Amino acid sequence: MTQDELKQKVAQAAIEYVVPDTIIGVGTGSTANFFIDELAKIKGTIEGAVASSEATAERLREHGILVFDLNTVAEISVYIDGADEADASLNLIKGGGGALTREKIVLAVADKFVCIADDSKKVDVLGKFPLPIEVIPMARSYVAREIVKRFAGEPVLRDGFVTDNGNLILDIHGLEITDPVAIENELNSIVGVVTNGLFAARPADIFLCGTKNGVETLTAK
Ligand code: 5RP
Repeated sequence: MTQDELKQKVAQAAIEYVVPDTIIGVGTGSTANFFIDELAKIKGTIEGAVASSEATAERLREHGILVFDLNTVAEISVYIDGADEADASLNLIKGGGGALTREKIVLAVADKFVCIADDSKKVDVLGKFPLPIEVIPMARSYVAREIVKRFAGEPVLRDGFVTDNGNLILDIHGLEITDPVAIENELNSIVGVVTNGLFAARPADIFLCGTKNGVETLTAK
């Protein structure tokens, strides 16, 4: 099975977690895109969705799914999104697509987080995938220096990339993240950091993991 076929399988499996007659949160990326295509088939059963990026909002609308502004929504039943890495506790690295801030905001409102990914994203220790940090443009160099000072990692500016919020992304290479909650909090404490791509203070509740033997449903160990 190809990686895209695995992504499609987990996207199909995630449909089971869509709560009828509610507003759901939808993530960003290629796996989330497969999910949106599946969601379109049952769009009449939900009120609509909150999108974690402009790209996702556009795809949802193209499929005729009503997109809500988060400021008009008090409850999201479930947030469904991909990941770049997941450990056994379902701590994640996200933000490969640069949508980490809106992803974290939509997740904050959601009752449940279902992560969908193929098994290449499963790791023992987070950090092989460079950790994305969204930064205010004028703080870019300061934040990079602080990261070098405080962590054994190398921040690299994501070339030519501007987030939906008008900010920049620094990708930190070479981290070995054994205490993801501590690193998430410390990165957030650097002035000029908008968000970091560690989803550990609020990890996934369920990880639908696509393997060649089918979709495994994983919960935190
Ligand atoms: C976007 C993300 C994505 O969920 C992550 O990059 C995984 O993407 P894909 O499903 O394309 O592998 O965090 O900001």
